[in-house]
Amino acid sequence: MTQQHDEGTVERHLGRAIAVHDVTHEYISDAGPVVALEGINVEIPGGEFTVLLGPSGCGKSTLLELIAGLRIPTSGILTIGDARIVGPSRHRGLVFQQSSSLLPWLSVEDNVALGLRINGMPKDERKKRIAEELERVHLSDFAQHRVTELSGGMQQRCQIARALAVDPEVLLLDEPFGALDALTRESLQAEIRRIWQETGRTFVFVTHSVEEAVLLGSRVLVMSPRPGRVIHDQELPFAHAREPITEVRADPTFVNQCHELRAMIGAH
Ligand SMILES: Nc1ncnc2c1ncn2[C@@H]1O[C@H](COP(=O)(O)OP(=O)(O)OP(=O)(O)O)[C@@H](O)[C@H]1O
Ligand SMILES: [Mg+2]
Repeated sequence: MTQQHDEGTVERHLGRAIAVHDVTHEYISDAGPVVALEGINVEIPGGEFTVLLGPSGCGKSTLLELIAGLRIPTSGILTIGDARIVGPSRHRGLVFQQSSSLLPWLSVEDNVALGLRINGMPKDERKKRIAEELERVHLSDFAQHRVTELSGGMQQRCQIARALAVDPEVLLLDEPFGALDALTRESLQAEIRRIWQETGRTFVFVTHSVEEAVLLGSRVLVMSPRPGRVIHDQELPFAHAREPITEVRADPTFVNQCHELRAMIGAH
């Protein structure tokens, strides 16, 4: 089982900032060393929906895994609040592109229950919590189904419910909608926006889609091609929007913003 680390008191109402100090990360492979990230200095404020945007191979997943504590950087440090990130923590939930982290022999309900069982939550409380999270992602009617009986979009909802069930301080999402068809992706984008608005948690969301970044992010960090560096950091206006995603897409400010970011990525 993953080791838990004490990272201090979680200030729920604020959400602690995550800071990346001078981080470089190099992989050693058979073909030689690969510098994935170089000289990253960035602060991710608590409670924001921060998007990491950049081309394939620029180190987005590597940076997310460092924030998760799944990897330790070759040099530099990462902190959350005053605490150094030295390993995974139940305060940082993870959602991946593939739903293979769900256990296929268990029901939806039992998958969502996993983290709660490990944390020793009493059964009654656990049942209530699972019901709330399944309702939040509109999966209540599928609680007893095996996850293999769900569509790809529903499996992603299940991953989100499982990650949120333990009430994490931070939700880390690595291209969670990357494998979905366009319509399903759009409905899940609307849902994740609503969930962020409802929960006020710190979200760090990886994508290589400029549109997705502008739709969802309250802030975007743009990364250069490998070795990944943060080349741009700005606030974005649409994360708090309530109107349907299709309306946001048609907004001239949205179109311009996408255009600017696309030019920036193309320019590097
Ligand atoms: N385990 C590993 N061993 C060796 N090299 C790796 C490993 N994981 C990633 N890399 C390399 O590090 C670089 C960054 O990879 P990473 O997966 O972080 O990029 P990414 O931005 O998430 O890409 P994508 O958008 O395709 O998911 C790539 O060049 C990749 O080949
Ligand atoms: Mg990746």
